[in-house]
Amino acid sequence: MNLSLQLLLLLTLTVRTVRTHGYYVFRVDECLTSSSALTDVEFIRTEYFNKVPYARFNSTVGEFVGFTEYGVKTAEYYNRGDYVLRMRGELERYCKHNLPIFYSNILDKTVSPRVELKAEQQPRGAHMSMLMCSAYDFYPPAIDVYWQRDGKKVTTDVTATDELADGDWYYQVHSHLEYTPRSGEKISCVVEHASFSEPMVYDWDPSLPESERSKMAIGASGLVLGLILSAAGFIYYKKKSSGRILVPS
Ligand SMILES: *[C@@H]1O[C@H](CO)[C@@H](O)[C@H](O)[C@H]1NC(C)=O
Repeated sequence: MNLSLQLLLLLTLTVRTVRTHGYYVFRVDECLTSSSALTDVEFIRTEYFNKVPYARFNSTVGEFVGFTEYGVKTAEYYNRGDYVLRMRGELERYCKHNLPIFYSNILDKTVSPRVELKAEQQPRGAHMSMLMCSAYDFYPPAIDVYWQRDGKKVTTDVTATDELADGDWYYQVHSHLEYTPRSGEKISCVVEHASFSEPMVYDWDPSLPESERSKMAIGASGLVLGLILSAAGFIYYKKKSSGRILVPS
């Protein structure tokens, strides 16, 4: 699976905010990891003045680094005192304690997508076809939706949306494929997601959809019924008229 498993961890905690005369100072703590095993956790504290970050402590570096002139001076000051010593303990105290709790409560939960594959209405006479593969109601948002033509990945004429948040923790995504149909080929939509143990392949069935088929069946029975009735009428008419001739007046 080549899912980019981004577990950016938002243990965002506003430890301190100071607001005076329109100036705004705050800091954000983050515990970041890129592995579900939580082996490479990093503690980051960033300090902001009026939304501009000016200094950051990174547990991998072990010191504060300043970004602005004021930030550089502040970082030097922090690095000389107790403050930096306290920050060096935050990875253990804050991240390694909280991350597994957040992780098992939310981040390792997966909900598999409901996938729908359908043809888009094309203008009359168009020789291109458009398919849409949609995945609904999945979590987490990292997903890979792509197309295959006879088992080979299609890279051209594909347009896809981002993962769109439904606002209820679930996400949806839509991918369009524009192609010229050839007989005997197989078009598939493939979905990879953390909730699946392997890529799921959805084959396009180019036969008519159910509603079209029932419309055709109704049309055909109407035609047959019409033919039977007109044949019956014709036979009846023939019988009547020939009977009239046979009877002498
Ligand atoms: C923290 O520092 C390490 C080592 O320089 C770096 O690889 C990593 O990207 C930094 N993390 C952040 C969030 O800046």
